[in-house]
Amino acid sequence: MMMPSEKVFPRVEPERIERAWVELTQVLSSGQVRRDEDTREQYSRDESDTGSYAPDLIVFPESAAQVSAVFKTCQALGVPFTPCGARSGKSGGSLPLRGGVAVSLERMNRIRSLSVEDLTAVVEPGVITGDFMKAVEAVGLFYPPDPNSWQFCTLGGNVAENAGGPRALKYGVTRDYVIGLEWVLPSGEILQVGRRTIKGVAGYDLVGLFVGSEGTLGVATEITLQLIPRPRHVMTALIIFDSVLAAARAVSAVLAAGVLPRTLELIDDVALRAVDGRGFHFPPGAGSAVILEVDGNAEEGLLAELAQAGEICERLGATQTLVAQNEEQREKLWAARRVVSTALRALKPHKISEDIAVPRSRIPEIIEKLKALGAELGLVVATYGHAGDGNLHANILYEGPHQRPLVETAIRRMLEMTVQMGGTITGEHGVGHAKRDYLALEQPAAVLELQRRLKAFFDPAGLLNPEKMFPDPERF
Ligand code: LAC
Ligand code: ZN
Repeated sequence: MMMPSEKVFPRVEPERIERAWVELTQVLSSGQVRRDEDTREQYSRDESDTGSYAPDLIVFPESAAQVSAVFKTCQALGVPFTPCGARSGKSGGSLPLRGGVAVSLERMNRIRSLSVEDLTAVVEPGVITGDFMKAVEAVGLFYPPDPNSWQFCTLGGNVAENAGGPRALKYGVTRDYVIGLEWVLPSGEILQVGRRTIKGVAGYDLVGLFVGSEGTLGVATEITLQLIPRPRHVMTALIIFDSVLAAARAVSAVLAAGVLPRTLELIDDVALRAVDGRGFHFPPGAGSAVILEVDGNAEEGLLAELAQAGEICERLGATQTLVAQNEEQREKLWAARRVVSTALRALKPHKISEDIAVPRSRIPEIIEKLKALGAELGLVVATYGHAGDGNLHANILYEGPHQRPLVETAIRRMLEMTVQMGGTITGEHGVGHAKRDYLALEQPAAVLELQRRLKAFFDPAGLLNPEKMFPDPERF
C-alpha cells in the first residue's frame, strides 16, 4: 500500500544495476552485497513515516577503504547511493529515494579508543549510541547527546543528522561533541578533518559543515568525540499541570529564573494518554506533564535547584511534583517519555511528526497557537518534546488519505507560524525528504542556491543521497 505522502522518483535502468551488482561483488566479499527481496524491503523505510523506497542493492562495507571503493564504483556507473545506519531517522534522510545502492555502515561498530586522560573517544559510525554512552559512563565520563532512539540509533546517524535529545538543553547537541572525522567524500576520496584536541581553530570548520549534512556531502567512517566528566548526581522530577499552556508557561519561568536543568521535557494531554500505562502511570486527571532533571556534583545544590524550580511551577499552576526516589523510578519515567512517538502512532492510522523550534520566549505562544490550529481544522494534534529548548514535536494524527489535504494545510500553517515567530522548521530531525518542500519558508532563495552550489561542488553528478534537503529548483 502506498502511503499518502509517498512520491515517485526516477530510477536507474536494470542493466546498470546489474553491472553495479557484478562490480560491487568484486570489490566486496560475498555476504557484503545483497539484493534479496527481504533485505530490500527492510532497507526501504525509516522512522519518518514518509513511505517505502527500496534500494536495488544493499552493501555492508567494513572499512573506509571499502566505503571509498563502493562510492567510486557507483560514481563510475552513474548509480545513486545513499548511506544508512539504524534507519531510525525522522526526516527520511537515509531513504534511497531513487533506488540504487544503500550503503549501510552498521558493521563498522567498534569503539576504537576511549581516553580518560584526554577525555576523548574514537568510534566507528555503526556504534549504537546507547552502547557508547554506557561504555563512557563505565570509566567515569559522560557523552551527553541523548536522542530518544539511543537504544538503537547509531553515532554515524547522529553525526549525519546532528542529533539532539532531552539533555541538549544544558549540554548541546552532537555537533558540540564531534572534534574530528574521517570522512569519505562522494568521489570516494578519504579525508581526515578536524582535530584531536579540545580546542583548535585551524582552517575552515569542515567538521561543523559535515556534521548535520544529512548524508549529502559524504559519510563518516571514524568519529572523534570529546567527553566530559560524569556528573555525580542526577535528580528527576515529574511535574503535573492541568493544562499544557500552564506547563509551557512554567518551563519559560524556570529558565527565566536562572535555573538550568539538564532537561525540561513537556508532554501534552494527548501524548500523556497515549503512553499512560505503558510501564508508567501518570496521576489521574493529569492534563500535562514536565520532566525536569538536574545534575551536578553537589547533592545539596541539586536539591535547592529542584525546590526552586518546583516552587516556580507551583506558582504557575502545577498540581503535583513527584521526585523519583531511585534509579528504577527514573528509568521507568524516561522509558515512558521515549515511547511517546511510537505510542502516538497507535492512536490513529496515520501520523505526521513535526519538529519545530522557536525562541524560548515564544514557547507558551506556540503551544497556544498549535492547539488553536488543531481545533480550527478539526485535527488531533499531540505536542511534546524538548520545551526548554523551544523544540517541540507537534504530531498530527489522522485517519487516512482523504484527510491528507487538510494535513498539508495544517503542516504549512504550523511551519509558517513557527518561522514568523523567529523559529525554524526543524530543531533536530533534519530536513531530509520530509521537509525539503518547506525549507524555502525559512531560508531565502540566495541561501538555498549557495547550499545547492556547495552540494554540487562536493558531488557534481548528484549521485550521493539524491532528492534531499533542498527544494526542487524548478518549483522554488
Ligand atoms: C523525541 C524524538 C521524536 O524527542 O525526537 O521523542
Ligand atoms: Zn526529540
